[in-house]
Amino acid sequence: MCGIVGYVGLRSVPETLLDGLKRLEYRGYDSSGMALLNDGKIIEIKNIGKVINLEKKASDTVGLELKNGTGIAHTRWATHGFPSEINAHPHLDAKHRFAIVHNGIIENYQSLKTQLQEKGIVFKSETDSEVLVHLISECYNGNLLEAVATALKKVNGTYGLAVISLESPGTIIAARHGSPLLIGLGEGESFIASDAAALVAFTRRVIYLNDHDVAQVTSSGVEIRNLDNIAVNRDISKIDWEPGAVEKSGFEHFMLKEICEQPEAVGNSIRGRLDLRSGNAHFNALNLSPYELSKINRIVIAACGTSMHAGMVGRYFFEDLASIPVDVEQAAEFRYRNPIIQPDTMVLPVSQSGETADTLAAVREAANKGAIVTAICNVVGSTIARESEHCIYLHAGPEIGVASTKAFTCQVTVLLMLAMLFGRNRRMSYQNALGLIAEIETIPELTKKVLDQRSGIEAVAKKYAEAEDFFYIGRGYLYPVALEGALKLKEISYIHAEGYHAAELKHGPIALLEENVPVVALANDLPGKEKMISNIQECRARCSPVIATVTAGDESFKDLVSDIITIPACSQFIAPVVTAVALQLFAYYVAKERGCEIDQPRNLAKSVTVE
Ligand code: AGP
Repeated sequence: MCGIVGYVGLRSVPETLLDGLKRLEYRGYDSSGMALLNDGKIIEIKNIGKVINLEKKASDTVGLELKNGTGIAHTRWATHGFPSEINAHPHLDAKHRFAIVHNGIIENYQSLKTQLQEKGIVFKSETDSEVLVHLISECYNGNLLEAVATALKKVNGTYGLAVISLESPGTIIAARHGSPLLIGLGEGESFIASDAAALVAFTRRVIYLNDHDVAQVTSSGVEIRNLDNIAVNRDISKIDWEPGAVEKSGFEHFMLKEICEQPEAVGNSIRGRLDLRSGNAHFNALNLSPYELSKINRIVIAACGTSMHAGMVGRYFFEDLASIPVDVEQAAEFRYRNPIIQPDTMVLPVSQSGETADTLAAVREAANKGAIVTAICNVVGSTIARESEHCIYLHAGPEIGVASTKAFTCQVTVLLMLAMLFGRNRRMSYQNALGLIAEIETIPELTKKVLDQRSGIEAVAKKYAEAEDFFYIGRGYLYPVALEGALKLKEISYIHAEGYHAAELKHGPIALLEENVPVVALANDLPGKEKMISNIQECRARCSPVIATVTAGDESFKDLVSDIITIPACSQFIAPVVTAVALQLFAYYVAKERGCEIDQPRNLAKSVTVE
């Protein structure tokens, strides 16, 4: 999704902006650009394609050593208008006095555009964003912050916005509504960005803007007002991860790095949250008394994509361990379906980024209907985290690869611990809890065992890399993992892959099975295995090669399937995490064999901040 970087200070402005943009590349984009305030004029540089092309263009036109100035930059992911140089940001007004970069969507842009055109303003691009620069120019009356605030009052929609003007050298105006924006504070310099990853190499001290904040950012600091020009105070937060966390550290791709980080990431999700003395899990962020917990009689999990699959695994945990009815809702469906929420409902939005538009809307809808909203997020300070009553963080570290991996396994682990908390509040015995704690503590080691088999999984992946269709089948706790395995494969390898409940196959999809259509069967030694053996037979009878995930030591699949991926022995509570790691590796090596752009797959964005 689009990314914003801004800088004011003594460093070389193009270099600093480009460094920030490169750190946002993982979010997915189709074009990029920057506007530099220099020598009494605004220089605009834009390009289609990769930031490296923009760097070349900047180097050829102005050089990269333009010190002591102000600049804003952007990576665009097209929503209105094709990816093109004209549609790329920044957008400038007719007299080149103002330049803006914008994330989000201006919903009433068409009527605003018509009004501006009636005044004789000529639009260059097909974007919704361009109206903002013309509106700001129209509203300017000697004070840039006020002009931006006045213009934004006319706008419906979402924005993370940065503005520079010839009239205010050394100043960037930043504003947000529904699209994240943060200010980085340095010594004699300031930064803005849509994502902390762009800033972490420069500063750890940041201010997250709230909706309707308008900030005046200079090299000496920041002053924040609301749209009514009233000063507001925002806390300074500290980014707690190292710059190295957003680098590949010798791995060929971020995705592989993040897959391999899972023992540590899951370990961080667990750390300090399991208590042997009380036989329970606890979360500092969820400060409900046992009485309050006992009053929660229904859970609704709202999420999208991989996070929704984690939520689907979570449903099994809550039902089995705590006997609480659970609905898992695609977040967009939840927000528009007028869901029934009662005072005893807890809504769990699950989101790696904490910025997914539909999940955020679900949070607002749930809060409005009086639910207790407890988010499960990875990104500290993200909008969902801040708008939810409680937020349990994953502590997985930054996830850069567009295809989510370590966030999934950490989400499942957190949901398991949360279900245990509810279970202990109800019927789960101390002894059973101790057993579960012991199992949870083995997850990092078990995921490591899967990673140790990388080369074996790579060999199987290479064998099937030319297939154009895949099916993934699972049952029980592994049914959502089948959906997630198929999603991973299609995201990064562009192979058509479908995840199904194994029992559903014969209700239609089996018609597509043939020798060129491999089936990945999640056949771990768990309840339902015998039925899975029958399902595998059905696939074999249609000549589909079957690749099975099989529990270590289980010999029953030797002559039954074409290839085996061995999963360490573990219970159904742990198997979703461990099996998912194997499927992530499988998808990764298939995509690598096909020569795909693994970290930035086509058409995908890391966080989907538009509907
Ligand atoms: C995962 O690989 C995807 N890229 C995508 O499905 C993602 O999980 C979804 O967009 C939800 O994102 P979130 O967890 O940041 O809310």
